Amino acid sequence: MNRQIILVKRPDGLPSEECFKLLEGEIPELKDGEVLVKTMYLSVDPYMRGRMNDGKSYISPFALNEVLTGGVVGEVVESKSDEFAKGDMVMGGFLGWQDYSIAKAGDLIKVENKDLSPGVFLGILGMPGLTAYFGILDVGKPKAGETVVVSGAAGAVGMTAGQIAKIKGCTVIGISGSDKKNEYLVKELGFDNALNYNTGNLRKELKKICPQGVDVYFDNVGGEISDAVMTLINYKARIPICGQISLYNVKRPPVGPRVQVQLLTKSAVMEGFLIFDYKERFGEGMEQLSKWISENKLKYSENIVEGLENAPKAFLGLFAGENLGKQIVKVV
Ligand SMILES: NC(=O)c1ccc[n+]([C@@H]2O[C@H](COP(=O)([O-])OP(=O)(O)OC[C@H]3O[C@@H](n4cnc5c(N)ncnc54)[C@H](OP(=O)(O)O)[C@@H]3O)[C@@H](O)[C@H]2O)c1
Repeated sequence: MNRQIILVKRPDGLPSEECFKLLEGEIPELKDGEVLVKTMYLSVDPYMRGRMNDGKSYISPFALNEVLTGGVVGEVVESKSDEFAKGDMVMGGFLGWQDYSIAKAGDLIKVENKDLSPGVFLGILGMPGLTAYFGILDVGKPKAGETVVVSGAAGAVGMTAGQIAKIKGCTVIGISGSDKKNEYLVKELGFDNALNYNTGNLRKELKKICPQGVDVYFDNVGGEISDAVMTLINYKARIPICGQISLYNVKRPPVGPRVQVQLLTKSAVMEGFLIFDYKERFGEGMEQLSKWISENKLKYSENIVEGLENAPKAFLGLFAGENLGKQIVKVV
């Protein structure tokens, strides 16, 4: 039997466990060119919140009463493709929240790496790591000596983006929701400083620790945190818009300060980007990220929840700040 997590209700605001249901289904027959993958780890990601809504976006919504899909690392248990053999470890970006998924061979990549845990292909060497790599380097363009601020800094994307900016010789300030996370950013990852957005006056604190202003603001969260950072941007600042998690569950987007005057008077550039924009360059990104990891210049953290049945809980935890680093679910 194949245990599956199904979307049974679209959320109105913050999702709850009632939106999900665990069912048992059959494992369908393989067709030529297909591979049967046994899930070892699955990824829960903030972007999935958007897919729970029934609206048009850059990616199609999850269908009601269907299994949820996302990144999976697993083992090939049966193959009708010449490209994969039984026992291969593979990663697929859109397999199911289920014990077994059928995938077309072209939708999988082999991910053997004896030195690293398999979860890295959902994290630092997967979609979040590549997002950080292209977002900070291609959009943020950090130069040595500049000040870089990263929000959502203790998450999978944020901690990678901040460390890359450090590699490039910048002063890096993280913003997260807890002192414990901030201690990790500074002591373990080498961030220069980190602020807790839940305590104190963020704008005032930032102004104190960024006396030269902000040259790059890597925005993972939006909302009032970003409003505070935007008041401190420098001439020719770059603001990569990676995510807006503080707004994913709001029913009506709040009206904040209008940033156009700030961008105009600072000749600054604010630019949204999606990881899919860089799909032709994923190989380059994975190679460089792997090299930095092997040189001990880049570290990562995984928050692992055990059991397929706990995938909804792990997903909801993203909106409560329960994860330090990449949130993954260990299925077997
Ligand atoms: N552009 C792209 O292609 C792309 C690709 C991947 C991810 N993203 C975006 O990048 C961002 C980070 O993704 P990730 O996978 O690395 O997730 P993550 O940061 O590992 O997990 C989410 C974190 O967001 C913080 N958060 C939750 N609600 C918040 C709120 N209301 N205000 C401020 N912070 C809040 C929490 O940390 P705290 O304890 O600090 O609150 C939580 O741990 C997300 O916005 C995601 O949508 C974009």
